Amino acid sequence: MSVPAAIQERAAWLRSEIERHNHAYYVLDAPTIPDVEYDRLFRELQALEHDHPTLMTVDSPTQRVGAAPLKAFPPLAHGVPMLSLNNAFEPAEVEAFDQRVRDALGTIVAVDYAVEPKFDGLAISLTYEQGVFVRGATRGDGATGEEVTPNLRTLHDIPLRLRGSGWPARLEVRGEVLMFKADFDRLNEKQRARGEKLFANPRNAAAGSLRQLDSRITAARPLSFFAYGVGAGGEVLGAATHGEVLDRLAAWGFPVAMERKIVQGVRGLLGYFDEIGQRRAQLPYDIDGVVYKVNRLDWQNTLGFVSRAPRFAIAHKFPAEEAMTTVLGIDVQVGRTGAITPVARLQPVFVGGVTVTNATLHNEDEVRRKDVRVDDTVIVRRAGDVIPEVVSVVIEKRPMRDLVTPLHDPWSLLRHYPVCPECGSAIVRGADEAVARCSGGLFCPAQRKQALLHFAARRAMDIEGLGDKLVDQLVDAGLVHTPADLYRLDVATLSSLERMAEKSANNLVAAIDKSRQTTLARFIFALGIRNVGEATARDLARHFGDLDALMAADSDALQAVPDVGPVVAASIAAFFAEAHNREVIRGLLEAGISWSAEPPANENVQPLAGKTFVLTGTLPTLKRDDAKAMIEAAGGKVAGSVSKKTDYVVAGEEAGSKLEKAVELGVTVIDEAALIELLTQGVNA
Ligand code: IVH
Repeated sequence: MSVPAAIQERAAWLRSEIERHNHAYYVLDAPTIPDVEYDRLFRELQALEHDHPTLMTVDSPTQRVGAAPLKAFPPLAHGVPMLSLNNAFEPAEVEAFDQRVRDALGTIVAVDYAVEPKFDGLAISLTYEQGVFVRGATRGDGATGEEVTPNLRTLHDIPLRLRGSGWPARLEVRGEVLMFKADFDRLNEKQRARGEKLFANPRNAAAGSLRQLDSRITAARPLSFFAYGVGAGGEVLGAATHGEVLDRLAAWGFPVAMERKIVQGVRGLLGYFDEIGQRRAQLPYDIDGVVYKVNRLDWQNTLGFVSRAPRFAIAHKFPAEEAMTTVLGIDVQVGRTGAITPVARLQPVFVGGVTVTNATLHNEDEVRRKDVRVDDTVIVRRAGDVIPEVVSVVIEKRPMRDLVTPLHDPWSLLRHYPVCPECGSAIVRGADEAVARCSGGLFCPAQRKQALLHFAARRAMDIEGLGDKLVDQLVDAGLVHTPADLYRLDVATLSSLERMAEKSANNLVAAIDKSRQTTLARFIFALGIRNVGEATARDLARHFGDLDALMAADSDALQAVPDVGPVVAASIAAFFAEAHNREVIRGLLEAGISWSAEPPANENVQPLAGKTFVLTGTLPTLKRDDAKAMIEAAGGKVAGSVSKKTDYVVAGEEAGSKLEKAVELGVTVIDEAALIELLTQGVNA
């Protein structure tokens, strides 16, 4: 039974329309229709093919969802062999390459080179007959690869039918299948959530995904393709340069590297290497170098090949980012916020261009998940300026040893580090938290600098001039261990520090002295208790009225404060339970820090309770932080953007889009004077 012509036409139209949108979405990154519309077209085509199976074609987009599993990958001979590239690592090797090229061509002028990223994926050859994708294979031994056609069909950026015209009757397109970094992260996130195996890197994920006998699995993996050349059919293209070949491939619907360029001579090559090296981390996919190709195809022919690599091209590789080494020990580092990070001490290894002796293991769960143990052989990765990390254990190389030896047990933070190695305080890990922390707070030297900066911050004790450089100096010189020590500093001691003039020393001592008179809320905030921000500190001050009551409060008493839940209560209680912290507080009080009694917590002193404000522009007298503090002290909230829920927008000079938005939404706009009136009178006055 033949299919009516109208239906055949409709199916053909749907196929080309769907592929057009596919190309716009996956190759050009410029979607042409909403997803729902695309889905509608797709389902319509699926239904037609279901009702009329003879309509099905090999280039139908419905084939992209995967087919029945194979038993094995059939071998497929390449029309033109897939060769490899020689590598260069040093500029001198690139210079030698360029010299060889010019010698062979007998030219002394700079040669034009087509340059492009070296994709870190898998080489693939795609065969098109009469413009239709018919077969695709991996590189294999270069002469014969494994046919993975059903898998390749699932890649949305591989055209199933070439666009435009002018393609040879039979064409082999060469390129790389890879996984974008963001897709890789999402895939691993999914794998983790499902409790399935994680992939070590995008390359492994791409390789593992493409070599699936069940193409439906491949279809569910986010693979991408970039074309970088042609095999069979190249000789009849009539292109004069490699650049033209890539332009044609792009016109026929293939993704080609946006970063491709034509440069002149060896200076152009090395300049490109540096440029791409700098952009490497920002590229959406991994590359392991750049590739230089003589641009003129007639010259490529003249140059020809040596054994299995072309003489007209070379790969200039970045230093390897991964290397294998052994774990000598597992230590922990205490970060500035007390976060405990397990660190592998390594047999020194050259990776990513430097010698690495330590690599982060991130946190306890990561150590367990990767099951890193002392004496293990591991893969270490250092990419760009990123901190080196242990990627995985080479399990086959784990020493066959008595497994009861404690050293070879799975690593456990608490067993190896029952207390903080820096200060001996307890290490605590919140129920839902990945990170364990030292509870030493102000006492722990690793946390001291950060704690001092926080203590001195404007919204805390407001000690002007105590910045990070000075804090580093004071702590490193052993002059300041706790915030209480700040109050013992004198001009003579400070002037002895490098780059500290007597005038600055005087100013600092005066600023420290001025901070002695403060508020209980500022003081509580300044202590740097985890989970206690400015607002909570204010609530605590108001609720308890004095410090002794707060320090004596148990979790229940703490949770009586509005907005204080079990997590916050626990961290407050843990902070005051630490003897060191109590000692520091005693020192501060002895140094003369004082505050006047807090006003009682009742509605009368909260004239702006429940009101939300947005500040915009420059107010005539109040600084933005001060206005915010005053509104919050009066029980109001300050939000960052205007919405229907905003009660007031306080606008000053040069107010911008927030003011416009307020007018648009009909939110009340007031000036500074009106704000001050509200603060003193309340909103109902
Ligand atoms: S051209 C005659 N261009 O590098 C060889 N290869 O060692 C033609 N590769 O197996 C290769 N990006 O998988 C070329 N822009 C690029 C490339 C590239 C990655 C891979 C390719 C090949 C290997 C060569």
